[in-house]
Amino acid sequence: MTAIVLYCRPGFEKECGAEIQEKAAWNEVYGYIKVCKNQGLVYFHVHESADADKLIQKLPLARLIFARQWFVTLGDEVELPAFNRVEAISEVLGKDFHYEEIRMETPDTNDGKELSKFIRKLSVPLRQSLRKSGVLAAKEQGNDSRGATILHALFMSGQQVQLGYSYVSNSSEHVMGIHRLKFPGASPSRSTLKLDEAFLYFIPKEEHEERLAGGLNAVDLGSAPGGWTYQLVRRGMMVKAVDNGPMDDALMQTGQVKHYQQDGFKWRPRKKNNYWLVCDMIENPTKVAKLMADWVVEGDCKEAMFNLKLPPTAGRYQLVMKNLQIIKDTLSENSIWYEMYAKHLYYDREEVTVHLRVLGNK
Ligand SMILES: C[S@@+](CC[C@H](N)C(=O)[O-])C[C@H]1O[C@@H](n2cnc3c(N)ncnc32)[C@H](O)[C@@H]1O
Repeated sequence: MTAIVLYCRPGFEKECGAEIQEKAAWNEVYGYIKVCKNQGLVYFHVHESADADKLIQKLPLARLIFARQWFVTLGDEVELPAFNRVEAISEVLGKDFHYEEIRMETPDTNDGKELSKFIRKLSVPLRQSLRKSGVLAAKEQGNDSRGATILHALFMSGQQVQLGYSYVSNSSEHVMGIHRLKFPGASPSRSTLKLDEAFLYFIPKEEHEERLAGGLNAVDLGSAPGGWTYQLVRRGMMVKAVDNGPMDDALMQTGQVKHYQQDGFKWRPRKKNNYWLVCDMIENPTKVAKLMADWVVEGDCKEAMFNLKLPPTAGRYQLVMKNLQIIKDTLSENSIWYEMYAKHLYYDREEVTVHLRVLGNK
């Protein structure tokens, strides 16, 4: 039976499964879920095989909050022999289909990490063999035309691999959907990676010069000790940092930061000259959602990047959807034209990141 395999953060399989099942149904695709608990993998078995392909073309991966990456299975899991694994995989693939690139992947777990050495060893001979037979493009050329596909080989162990494919135009550009970033030593906290990843994920590279430009004004709510402020400062922005806690000295000495020791739910800028609002306050997600919508309605920012914290309970997908709906309703009532995407990013833990951008007034 054909399935769509989805990668998510280990521990969030239920959320990822609930989401794909609901959003698939919106597209009239139905099936059942099998989760690999704490392995960050979800199998969505579709009732009609052809629907799997239809769905991964029609539903933008960017519209899924909990899935980092996905692919459609090519048959069942392949049992690999102790020797001649390359031949075994090549044989299953045949010669009929052609892929732009291959991703050799594992579950995002400690066992998965252990497998990476094995994968590295297999990588060169497997690529060589697939190129020779024409299954894999001669060179990874970055072909992202509509039909171009990626071959996924998801190794569950040294003896089992699940093969599948995704479309270059609707999948993550990163192996396992994970964009690993280097922690900048000068940042006062590791949270900095969350905002860095969010900017790289949500803002197209060619628009960084305009939308993440030096000189823009930004507000950081819940800023201490300054990991998020650091990302704004390093891009040359002027930051109003709001938090009762102390800010990092080195950041304050840049002259780009003004610290307000106040309540982030009450503080408001005097002028309407702020482009960015970022918010990492550990607070009730509904309170944060309402606050963000209010800033936008009041014209106090043009773009916002914020976290919605998730409780360690069931129903977290529904909770995120409910809070996004609060924002949508408020903006619609105020005739604001906007775009909003949410993602459970790699550096997020018990939270999802939301990007909200005002496009104009209706
Ligand atoms: C996760 S930390 C922020 C870390 C910060 N983004 C960084 O990268 O260093 C959450 C912060 O929110 C602040 N906070 C929580 N509630 C707040 C409120 N009502 N007003 C202002 N700050 C608040 C806390 O003091 C804490 O410093």
